[in-house]
Amino acid sequence: MPETTRTIVLTGASDGIGAVAARKLAGPETDLILVGRSADKLAPIASETGARSFTADFSELAQVRELADSIASAVDSIDVLMNNAGGTFDPKNRTADGHEPNFQIDHLAPFLLTNLLRERLAAAGSSLVLNTSSVGNLAGSIDLDDLDFEKRRAFGLRAYGTAKLMNILFTRGIANRWSDDKIYSAAVHPGPAATSFGRDSKFIGLAYRSPLTRFVTITPDQGAAPLIELAQRGADPTINGVYFSRHKANGLQNPQARNESLIDGLWQRSAELVGVA
Ligand SMILES: NC(=O)c1ccc[n+]([C@@H]2O[C@H](COP(=O)([O-])OP(=O)(O)OC[C@H]3O[C@@H](n4cnc5c(N)ncnc54)[C@H](OP(=O)(O)O)[C@@H]3O)[C@@H](O)[C@H]2O)c1
Repeated sequence: MPETTRTIVLTGASDGIGAVAARKLAGPETDLILVGRSADKLAPIASETGARSFTADFSELAQVRELADSIASAVDSIDVLMNNAGGTFDPKNRTADGHEPNFQIDHLAPFLLTNLLRERLAAAGSSLVLNTSSVGNLAGSIDLDDLDFEKRRAFGLRAYGTAKLMNILFTRGIANRWSDDKIYSAAVHPGPAATSFGRDSKFIGLAYRSPLTRFVTITPDQGAAPLIELAQRGADPTINGVYFSRHKANGLQNPQARNESLIDGLWQRSAELVGVA
C-alpha cells in the first residue's frame, strides 16, 4: 500500500448512502474497512471496493464489542471512523440488551464502538469521527431518566429523532473530551435520500415509497455526497463539534443539542450502560 494510506472505517456500508460512500472512498490511498449487519449483503460491496469487511448486528452489544476487537486487531490506527449504520425502528420493541432499539442501534452501539476504538483513533495522530445524524433531531427529546422511552410515549418519529439528536450530543462530547488526542468529530444530516431507510416506519414509508417520492427525496448518491466530502476532509479542528445539514455547517438543530450539562450527562449515562470509562 502507498505510504499515504488513510484508514477509513465505515459502518452501514451494505446499503443506501453507506454503500455509495464505500464505492466513492475506495482507492489506492485508502485502507477501507467496511462494516455491515449481514455478511452476504456486504460481500459484493467489499469485493467491488477491495475492502476488508466485518459484520455486527448493533441490536446486540456483544457483537459490537467483538467487532471492535476485530477492527483493532486488523489496523494500527484509524484516520476516519464513519458511524453511519442506523435507521428507524419500532420503539415498542426491545433489543437483545433490553433497550429501546433506536436508542441502542443509532446511539449506544456507535458510542460503544467509538470508545473501544479510541486508542486506534488517537494512534493516527489526528482523526475524525463522523456521525450520520438527521434533521429528525428536531423531533427528538432527551430525558436522561427515560432513555429507553419507558415513561413517555414515543409517538411518530420521536424515538428516532431522539437518537439522532444524541448523535449530535455525542459529537460534541467527543469534541469536549478527546481534542487533546486530536480526535475531532462532526455530525451530518445527509438529506432525504431514497434508500432502504425507513423500511420499518409507516411515517417515513409514506413519503419514501409513494408515487410522489421523487418530489421529496434526493438520490443515494446525492445523500452520500456530504459524508464523502467530510470524510475526505478528515481531521480538521475547525469542524470539531459541528453539525452539518448536508454541506452547510451549523444546520438547524434542537436546542438540547447545545445543552452542555445534557451533553455531559448523556455521555456519562451511556458510558455506564455499556461499561466504558
Ligand atoms: N435516507 C435518509 O433520508 C436519511 C436521512 C437522515 C439520516 N439518515 C441516516 O443515514 C444513515 C444511513 O441510512 P440509509 O439512508 O443509507 O439507510 P439504509 O439504506 O437502510 O442503510 C442503513 C445501513 O445501516 C445498517 N443497519 C441497520 N440496522 C442495523 C443494525 N441493527 N446493526 C448493524 N447495521 C445496521 C444497514 O444494514 P442492512 O443492509 O443489513 O440493513 C445498512 O447498511 C442512517 O444512520 C440514517 O439514520 C438517512
